[in-house]
Amino acid sequence: MTIFAIESSCDDTAAAVVSDGRKVLSSVVASQVFRHVEFGGVVPEIAGRMHCEAISGVAQEALDRAGLNIQDVDAIAVTAYPGLIGSLLVGVNFAKGLAMTSGKPLVPVHHLRGHIAANYISHPELEPPFLCLVVSGGHSHIVEVKDYTDMKIIGRTRDDAAGEAFDKTARTMGLPYPGGVHMDKLAENGNPDAFTFPVPKVSGSPYDFSFSGLKTAVINTIHNMQQKGIEIPREDMAASVRQSVVNILTDRFMLAARDTGHKRLVLAGGVSANSLLRRRMSEICESNGLELYYPELSLCGDNAAMIGAQGYYELLCGNTADMSLNAHAERSIE
Ligand code: KG4
Ligand code: ZN
Repeated sequence: MTIFAIESSCDDTAAAVVSDGRKVLSSVVASQVFRHVEFGGVVPEIAGRMHCEAISGVAQEALDRAGLNIQDVDAIAVTAYPGLIGSLLVGVNFAKGLAMTSGKPLVPVHHLRGHIAANYISHPELEPPFLCLVVSGGHSHIVEVKDYTDMKIIGRTRDDAAGEAFDKTARTMGLPYPGGVHMDKLAENGNPDAFTFPVPKVSGSPYDFSFSGLKTAVINTIHNMQQKGIEIPREDMAASVRQSVVNILTDRFMLAARDTGHKRLVLAGGVSANSLLRRRMSEICESNGLELYYPELSLCGDNAAMIGAQGYYELLCGNTADMSLNAHAERSIE
């Protein structure tokens, strides 16, 4: 079955054609980051307008590259939630128009389920059940993926998402938006033990994360040094922040893996591109006899191929929508 997929939940306008949830026939991503970088973050109003300008061209290019037209596909999948509402609405309405004129089924897809499904493309042998650490710019969850469309949240962030923790601390260091990738590169040449930041105490669930304490500690350290006229050793600072974030994520994820008994672990979302997170998890899983999967780098960030992959499994389960489909800024992955 061939799915035509649309993704516009944040600042990437994307379209893709995916066969049987695993094989990418085409994938086109138009990034808006060059416009948002001057504001240090995504400006929702600008994002919505840019999606509106780009979406038809991106969609046509995805079909052209796959050598298909809309009548050749079996369904139209679209990210309907969660995300920036003005951005989501552009993709959802475009997909509804396509479904209406083509008569094809319309399949709403949860953005984070899409991030998880990026792994089905990179690892054709991967099947649920597994335990997944979903870490993006807007969300951080530990999710038990019981089946392709049956998920349970085991842990979540109490405040900032992991990507936000990277982006906000990177901004204080004067790095461009989105800071996570710049921080990751700088960190490769720094000393991760140069600065020590507090380990968060989260009461209640042992699998929940918190990044606000770390963020405040980093910002205070940088401001104190600036006031004293001390130059920030950027590589060392980046390496120390990265180590702290990765420690928080891996500690909670491994605790959840141990307690739930899952032996197959998966990383997903923009932050799964982080080189230390990938290395650390590989070491831990190798020494504990656990299977580890993460998406190829090009599928870690936002793209429509992952929406086409998840859309296939949603369609198999009959999870289609009619023309009353609406976008939602918030919606649980469950
Ligand atoms: O999943 P994603 O592309 O968009 C959302 O759904 O939010 O994630 C974007 C986030 C940003 O916060 C970005 O800084 C972070 O992923 N990110 C990284 C790396 N590459 C992207 N964070 C740490 N290390 C990276 N290499
Ligand atoms: Zn995303």
